[in-house]
Parts: sequence; C-alpha cells; structure tokens
Amino acid sequence: MKIPSHVHTCSIILVLPSLLLTFLNPAIAEKNGVDIYSLTVDSRVSSRFAHTVITSQVVNKADAVQQATFQMELPRKAFITNFSMVIDGVTYPATVKEKAAAQEQYSMAVSRGESAGLIKATGRKMEEFQVSVSVAPATKVTFELVYEELLRRHLGVYELLLKVRPQQLVKHLQMDIHIFEPQGISFLETESTFITNELVDALTTSKNSTKAHIRFKPTLSQQQKSPDQQDTILDGNFIVRYDVNRTHSGNSIQIENGYFVHYFAPEGLPTMPKNVVFVIDKSGSMSGRKIRQTREALIKILSDLNPKDQFNLIVFSEEANLWNPLLVPASEENVNKAKSYAASIQARGGTNINDAVLVAVQLLQNSNQAELLSSGSISLIILLTDGDPTVGETNRTQIQKNVQEAIGSQYSLFCLGFGFDVSYAFLEKLALDNGGLARRIYEDSDSALQLQDFYEEVANPLLTEVAFEYPSNAVEEVTQNNFHLFFRGSEMVVAGKLRDQSPDVLFSKVRGQMHTENITFQAESSTAEQEGLFQSPKYIFHNFMERLWAYLTIQQLLEKTVSASDDKSKALKTRALNLSLSYNFVTPLTSMVITKPEGQEQSQVADKPAEDRASNFPSSFGAVALGVPGNYRQSGHLSQLSHHSRFYPHPNVERLRDTSHRRGCLNPGLFLFLLLETTTIAPSPDFSTCSRNCVAVPASGQVPAIILPLRGPSGDRLCVDISHSQGPMDLLSDPGRGLEVTGQYKRQKAGFFWVEVTYKNPQVQIHVSPEHVVVTRNQRRSAYKWKETLFSVLPGLEMTMDKTGLLLLSGPDKVTIGLSSQNDPGKGLLLLLRDTDHFSSQVSGTLGQFYQDVLWEPPAAADDSRRMLRVQGKDYSATRELRLDHHGGTEISCWSVEL
Ligand SMILES: *[C@@H]1O[C@H](CO)[C@@H](O)[C@H](O)[C@H]1NC(C)=O
Ligand SMILES: *[C@@H]1O[C@H](CO)[C@@H](O)[C@H](O)[C@H]1NC(C)=O
Ligand SMILES: *[C@@H]1O[C@H](CO)[C@@H](O)[C@H](O)[C@H]1NC(C)=O
Ligand SMILES: *[C@@H]1O[C@H](CO)[C@@H](O)[C@H](O)[C@H]1NC(C)=O
Ligand SMILES: *[C@@H]1O[C@H](CO)[C@@H](O)[C@H](O)[C@H]1NC(C)=O
Ligand SMILES: *[C@@H]1O[C@H](CO)[C@@H](O)[C@H](O)[C@H]1NC(C)=O
Repeated sequence: MKIPSHVHTCSIILVLPSLLLTFLNPAIAEKNGVDIYSLTVDSRVSSRFAHTVITSQVVNKADAVQQATFQMELPRKAFITNFSMVIDGVTYPATVKEKAAAQEQYSMAVSRGESAGLIKATGRKMEEFQVSVSVAPATKVTFELVYEELLRRHLGVYELLLKVRPQQLVKHLQMDIHIFEPQGISFLETESTFITNELVDALTTSKNSTKAHIRFKPTLSQQQKSPDQQDTILDGNFIVRYDVNRTHSGNSIQIENGYFVHYFAPEGLPTMPKNVVFVIDKSGSMSGRKIRQTREALIKILSDLNPKDQFNLIVFSEEANLWNPLLVPASEENVNKAKSYAASIQARGGTNINDAVLVAVQLLQNSNQAELLSSGSISLIILLTDGDPTVGETNRTQIQKNVQEAIGSQYSLFCLGFGFDVSYAFLEKLALDNGGLARRIYEDSDSALQLQDFYEEVANPLLTEVAFEYPSNAVEEVTQNNFHLFFRGSEMVVAGKLRDQSPDVLFSKVRGQMHTENITFQAESSTAEQEGLFQSPKYIFHNFMERLWAYLTIQQLLEKTVSASDDKSKALKTRALNLSLSYNFVTPLTSMVITKPEGQEQSQVADKPAEDRASNFPSSFGAVALGVPGNYRQSGHLSQLSHHSRFYPHPNVERLRDTSHRRGCLNPGLFLFLLLETTTIAPSPDFSTCSRNCVAVPASGQVPAIILPLRGPSGDRLCVDISHSQGPMDLLSDPGRGLEVTGQYKRQKAGFFWVEVTYKNPQVQIHVSPEHVVVTRNQRRSAYKWKETLFSVLPGLEMTMDKTGLLLLSGPDKVTIGLSSQNDPGKGLLLLLRDTDHFSSQVSGTLGQFYQDVLWEPPAAADDSRRMLRVQGKDYSATRELRLDHHGGTEISCWSVEL
C-alpha cells in the first residue's frame, strides 16, 4: 500500500510500486511482433448523438506471417455502422446484411462457430468487437471501426464512455472528443480510471458555451508504467459527462437536413406524490450476500421516501406476505417501522412471482377503494427477484397475462433482475407490458447501490401521460411521441422527418398531467435558423440528424417487439430491419460480414449479442487485484514528488521542492509514497528483512491521531486524538469555502466508520466508508471501491484515487482532504489534511477550530513539553509527543491534544 505522507526529516524512505505494477497487466510490449504504431479515437457528439471512429494502424515487424488482432470495446447501446481493413493498400470493407441472409451465405464460417465470437458482451455496459487477420512480414494494416449511439440523459447527465486498452505502447495515440450542443453546455467533467499524475498533461479540455473539445494525447514515455518498462499504463474507462442548459420549459427542437429532433426535460416542476409497493423476493436463492444487500438498499430507499408518498412492502417466497394490509403514508414513524421489518427479512423457500405481483395489485386496488390513492398520484410496483418462478403459476406466458390483466394499465410495474439466474427477457416483457421498465442488478459488492440508483431514477415522477403534438402537414415518420411517465433527471426525445412542403417554422405542443393540473408546453423552431447551426464540419458528420432519427426509431421498434403480438412483432421487425440495412447499423436483426483477403478464411460474421447472453463475464467493478512482491526498493523520489505536487498548487510546495533538490533531502510539505501492506491474496511483506530502506509497520493498537499542520511559521503540528468522541461529528465546516466534513469515529476500528465531504461549488458529496467511496453529484451516484484508480476532473475539484487506496480531494483554492482505508478491512478510515492555509477565516468544527486563532499559554517553567492552548474559549492541554503518522508509518513529533 502506498500512502503519501507528511514528514519532516531526511531519513524517510520512499518506496515505489514499480515492481508491483508488472503484476497487474501481463500484456507484452509488442504482441508477437505486431506493432500498433497509431491508434486514434475520434468522437463527435452533435446534440447527444455520438459518432465514434477508431482507427488502428499496425505493422508486422516479425519475419513470419503473424495474426494482427483488432480489439475494441464499445457501449452496448451503440450500433456498429462500419468496419474496414486496409491491407497493402487494398480495402476490405465489411457489409451489413440481414442476419439470416448473412448466415446462410456464410454458413461455412458459422458452422465452424466463428461468427459468435466477433462481438461479445463484456462488463456491465460494454461489448467487445474483435477481428484477427494474417499479415505478411513488413506489411501494414489499418483497421477502422465506426459506431454510433444516442446518449440518453440519466440522473441529470449524458455520459460518453470510451474504453482505452491498447495493450502495448503506441507511438501515435490520440483521442479527440468534440461536443456540440446548441442549447449550451451547462457543465462538463471527465473521469478516467487510468490517468495518473504523469498523464495529466496529456489531457486538455477546452469549452465555451456550446462547444467542447477534449484531447488525450500521451507520448510514448507518458504511456509507460515506469521508465524501464514497456508496459502501457492505459487500460480502463475514459468518461465524459455533461448536461445542457435548459429554459424553464426544457424544450428544444433542432433541425438539420430535413429531419428534426425534439428534446424535452422541463425543470422546476414539482414531484408528483407516489404510491410505491416494493415486492421483494426472499426465496432461498437470495440467501447470503444478495438478501443482505437487498435489506441494506431497502433501508436506505425507505429513508429516501418523500413524506408525501405512500408505500408498502411485500416479501415473497412460496407465498407473499404483506407488511401492512393497505398503503401507509411515509411518515417518520411508518418508515422506521418498515425499516425494522426490512432488516428482519430472511431468505428461504421457492419463488412465486405470480402471486406476489397479484397481491401487490390487489393491495393497490384495496387502497384505491379505501380512497387512499390521491388523485394525481402515481402508483408504482417495484419487483425485485433473482430467479425464475418455481412455485404456483410457473408458466411465464401465463404470469405475464395474469399480471397485465390485473394491472389493466392503472399502475406501472418495474422489474429488477438480480444476477443471472433470472430470465431477463421474461422480466423485461413483464415490465414493458405494464408501463415500466426492467433493469439488471449485477451481483457484486455494489449491488445495494445499484438498487438505490434504480430507485433514485424513478423516485421523482414529474409528469404523466405526456403527448407531443406536431402539425400533420409539417412532419412524418415521427418516433414515439407518447410517454406514460417522465422522471426528474431523464429526458424525452422525439425525432421525425420534415415534410417536403413543411412550413418554415415548426410548432409543437407538449401536453402532460401534473399532480393537480394539466399543463401544456409550447415550442417552435425555425428551419432556416436551425440549418445554419449545424454547419461546422468539426462537430457534425454527414446526415447526423437523419441517422439519429433512424437509430432512435430502430431502438424503439425493437423495444416494442417485446410486448407486441406475433403478427405485430413481425411487422415491427421488418421495419427495423429495413432501417438497419438502409443505415448500415449492426442491430440484433442484422449481421456484419467481414471479408478477408484471398487465401484466408473468406469471411466472418459479427452478431450483436443479446442481453441475456451477457452472463459470466468477470466483474468490472474493482477488477484490479493488487499483488505485492516480497521486497521493495527505492527509486526516483523527486520525480514522483513533483508529479504529486500538482495537487498542492500552493507556492510553498514548489519552493520546498526546489530546496529539496539542492540539499538532496526531503522536506516537510512533500508527500512520500510508502508500500506497507497487501490485499488478502498477496503474501505479507516481510519487514524483518528491511534494513535502511523501509520503515516499521505501525504498531498495532496505537490509535491514529489526525495530524493537523498548524498555521504560522513554526510549521508545527497538532496531533488530535478523537478516539474518545462518540456519534457523528462536525469535523470541518468552512462556509467561506463551501466545505463541510462530517464523520463518525469508532475506537474499536481505530478510524472513522464513515466520513462525508460536501462541497458547495461544484455541488458534490463524497461519502466514504471502509467499503466504498460514493460520489453524488446532481442526484447521480457513482461508487468506487478502494484501490480502484480514479481521476475525476470536475470544474474546480479534482478527485483522485490511486491503487494504494488513497483518495485525494483537491482544487486550486481548496484545502486538500485525503482519505484512505486501512489495509485491515476491519479497520476504519484515516483522514489527512493538506494546504490548510486555504481555509477561510470562518472555518469551525472539531478539527476546523484549530485554524481559528489559537492562543498558546506560556510553558510552565518546569516542563516545556506541556502547554495549554485556548481555542474559541475552550482550553486544551497539549503534550509534546512522538506519535505515529499512519499515513507515513513514521513517528513524528507533535503537540498532542485529546478531545
Ligand atoms: C465503410 O468504410 C469504408 C472504408 O472507409 C468506405 O469505403 C465505405 O463507404 C464505408 N461504408 C459506409 C456504409 O459508410
Ligand atoms: C450555458 O450555461 C453555462 C453555465 O451556466 C454558461 O456559461 C453558458 O454561456 C450557457 N450557454 C448558453 C448557450 O446559454
Ligand atoms: C468555441 O470553442 C471551439 C473549440 O473548442 C472553437 O472552435 C470555437 O471557435 C469557439 N467558439 C467561440 C464563440 O469562441
Ligand atoms: C403457458 O401459457 C400460455 C398462455 O396461457 C399457453 O398458451 C401455453 O400453452 C402454456 N404453456 C405450457 C407449457 O403450458
Ligand atoms: C387532465 O386531462 C385528462 C385527460 O384529458 C383528464 O382526464 C383530467 O381530468 C385532466 N386533469 C385535470 C386536473 O384537469
Ligand atoms: C426499405 O423500405 C423502403 C420503402 O419500402 C424501400 O424503398 C427500400 O428499398 C427498403 N430498403 C431496404 C434496404 O430494404
């Protein structure tokens, strides 16, 4: 484990994790002599529609024929639209064909089982495309993959996810992301799981009101894991998130080249009251972690209920049990009772989905008869199950029929499939038939958070029965224009074609029902004005609006087939197939045929994998396991330090670095890395063999103090011991800087049980527990495991976490807050503060008070190791002590204060 530390002597040793890194990625520098000399990613997002081109150029440097493999991950919602190979100047394009035709034509390849492998699902959100081709010596090949997707607004953001995994060093590596949003970009942030301090300079972001350009262009040496290693550091996600400006009505109609798109996400509407029935599977298969996570999530979700909501719980195995006979208001008392009930749920028995859902519907009917459902309220049934029906009605078709008849379009049913033992197709149809939607909950350590996230998405219904209207003489082939429910943080999208003789100005009305009234929004857009907007070739690709319309139409047709009758479904598929072929999209109805040079097996067929086939992939959540070699070594302190000082932009740090160069000595204010411990799978480091180059393991049992660098020239420190404090504490509150830190200490855990850091600007909340780091921003929650690397740049705030599990929160004018998990999972969190001169004069709190005026009493003559200090009218006795700095593993001298 490596932890920066604040130290004050020259004798501290720096241990770099360079040996460690070889364990993490077995990728060899140049796979079998095939060198990728250029890899570019060019993503253009015009009005949420993203067009990504990935170009990889390779050369075979070996003496013999070699396999060159092109491997790329793309979002599952995306459609591949083109792929080509250029070998020796000859282009081999892929073609998109109807699935059946492609398979018949190339049945040879299919019968050899090769077709299925070209695209496969990986991770939660991605699928992988892979093609290999034999390449003669000294021959160059260019691979080009193009895919497109419409970015959907989810909890208030659009997210573009690019996977970066070249597996070798690449001479020319460049990613460009151009975003153009005519409504204006309200915020933009980037996050990556691989960017280190060394790579920060390779990333540039520029943004003005409607356009943004993000470039990532690391040099060869920046890609290297360390100077003497040929392994690439680039392996992970690169994410861009943004949102657009909205007028109060949230309407925007955009027009390009004969097509229009209408985005609608009104702001500031009141949330409609809702009636929620949670239907929770407690069958035997849920036992263990799943039921624990479900209980945990349910308890949190119950706390989040709006007092205006009504709710009830149904748990089921063979039979369904109601917590309460009717819906009850989400009063504090009821919520607390429900939480106790949820906490007691135990898993055993079979799965009777049919009865459970019917009981939920009956409950809503009874509550309605008892006049408990207020008019204008929304009724939701949320079903969570991890398995197929095994008890009672087990015929899935019959269950779907029973449920649809019972619900009769009065309520919405949302289905959450927990894990992969459940037929997702069954749940999806069940939900889509009944005005809801289905989600998969991945079995992982963050499953409870996934459940909470889902709830958050549907927690705030704003409108119901939303209808978009356009003059019929103006538009045709309009996509879905009626939406049953609209939730805060999402967006409704309608696209269509303008008629040949359509008027110059396109008018639209959007009608919807709110809690107490019906509302109509109006929007208009002038064709001529709009056409002028989309002229910039840097941001716009040919016919983008038309392609957006085709993409959306295909997605919606495919979704509709799920709940359509057989005949209807066939017609929908025919239409979707026609569009997929016309626009060259690889969809579930088409296949891409890849033709190879003469002499190699002639062609391969790439099929889009279905959702249910996504099973058994390794978890992408915190997938990196740390191994630690048995011994450590020392190297290159200062370069490492200088990179790290980026997060401490205070001039002092620069100055200190200079002097340390001159004296060859490390100074206070610099941050050292130290490898201390391992995860459970790795052998424990053997400190007994250390001589000079390592430090002692922290004496177990000693309570970690929080070390506060004090103001003033002395550079002295306070070691604050809060181990006797109980309950949640207000640690720091600095209204002048919009910062708030609270936490709860646990003496038995020798650290914090949780810490919560809240920033006003940007508005972000970081909740840290020994299990997770959860970042909440604009209602959107992201969870990270400790030791998962993270580099997140929000305007005014940088969040980084390295593989050692140190989370640093810093910004140009911000106090740096560091949090780390201790290596023993039973231990609490450690907190550190840097750049404390950035506190404003208004800072207060258990720790913050020491950055107000501190009055030191003169030392009593006999004993200068004891002083009294007075802080805001309170007296503390301070003792000069040697304390262990748990972040550095060293003893330091400080004034120790017990609170
Ligand atoms: C696919 O890419 C190839 C090579 O760049 C190009 O010739 C072809 O026209 C493209 N096909 C489509 C449908 O865009
Ligand atoms: C969008 O909002 C941002 C931030 O509030 C502002 O800087 C920008 O000028 C706005 N753009 C437009 C086109 O209104
Ligand atoms: C906005 O930024 C883009 C590049 O990011 C640039 O091409 C464009 O000219 C800028 N527009 C304005 C109005 O500054
Ligand atoms: C399941 O139920 C459906 C609809 O009632 C029926 O058509 C079908 O035959 C049943 N399947 C079996 C295997 O009983
Ligand atoms: C809103 O419109 C619907 C459908 O036209 C109607 O049934 C309902 O009574 C209206 N609600 C209010 C509050 O006017
Ligand atoms: C799609 O349908 C249109 C209209 O029916 C037809 O003209 C066109 O040829 C079809 N395209 C394909 C690729 O089948």
